[in-house]
Amino acid sequence: MKIQPKIYLVGAGPGDPDLLTVKALRLLQNADTLVYDRLVSREILALVPARVARVYVGKATGQHTLSQQEINALLVDLGRKHQCVVRLKGGDPFIFGRGGEEALALAHNDIPFEVVPGITAAQACAAYAGIPLTHRGLARGVQFVTGHRKDNEELVLDPAALSDPEQTLVVYMGLTQLPLIVRDLLNAGRSADTPAAVIERGTTSRQRNVITTVGGLQQAVEQHAIASPAMLIVGRVVALAEELDWFEPWVQEMELRYA
Ligand SMILES: C[S@@+](CC[C@H](N)C(=O)[O-])C[C@H]1O[C@@H](n2cnc3c(N)ncnc32)[C@H](O)[C@@H]1O
Repeated sequence: MKIQPKIYLVGAGPGDPDLLTVKALRLLQNADTLVYDRLVSREILALVPARVARVYVGKATGQHTLSQQEINALLVDLGRKHQCVVRLKGGDPFIFGRGGEEALALAHNDIPFEVVPGITAAQACAAYAGIPLTHRGLARGVQFVTGHRKDNEELVLDPAALSDPEQTLVVYMGLTQLPLIVRDLLNAGRSADTPAAVIERGTTSRQRNVITTVGGLQQAVEQHAIASPAMLIVGRVVALAEELDWFEPWVQEMELRYA
């Protein structure tokens, strides 16, 4: 692969380094500078050669190292100075990752860029919890939504997305607003006994799955002290996890320890 001097907006996937794309790995190994986020796992950072300059621009809710505008400006500046800059983002850069805003900043400043998709957390968490997001007879479609509320805005979830029993609903950043999400689901007509799952740190050796119902979500999250990053999945397909859950995080832990 010939590496062109560009900014590469690269998806790191959900955490398991084996879920990086081959292209992402090649770029990481040939970068001059790496600009990375909070959700990029340490196992993935370990694959980056020591000679690559690293800039951390991670954000946690309410605590921003750099504002999004400052990150955009940094990328434009690096694009003018460096040969190969990898902007590494958790999951996929174009799914709830503000990759579109960064790409627009580059486009507006005539900085050449490329987008390298990554496996988004919704797909990965579902797969690693044994939950097919669509399944004949159970789910005809799937919707990815965010539960994040900007500043003091009211959470607005599409009632049609919430009410259809044959749609799987996957909620990113849903923990903080969980009571409102459950309220909206019930108000939209989803039954309280609809299967629901919360997957914490999906695909990593610390993955935990909580399988419950819409009505039991809040209590289950509190009981297991589930923390971010976590993915909420609602729909009939969640019931399949009972038979399809295959992932054994402790095996991954052993493999990492003895690698
Ligand atoms: C700002 S969004 C970034 C999403 C990312 N661009 C993607 O495509 O997966 C961060 C949210 O993604 C979800 N998330 C990301 N990685 C996760 C993981 N390994 N396990 C569970 N949820 C995850 C959580 O809901 C987290 O709050």
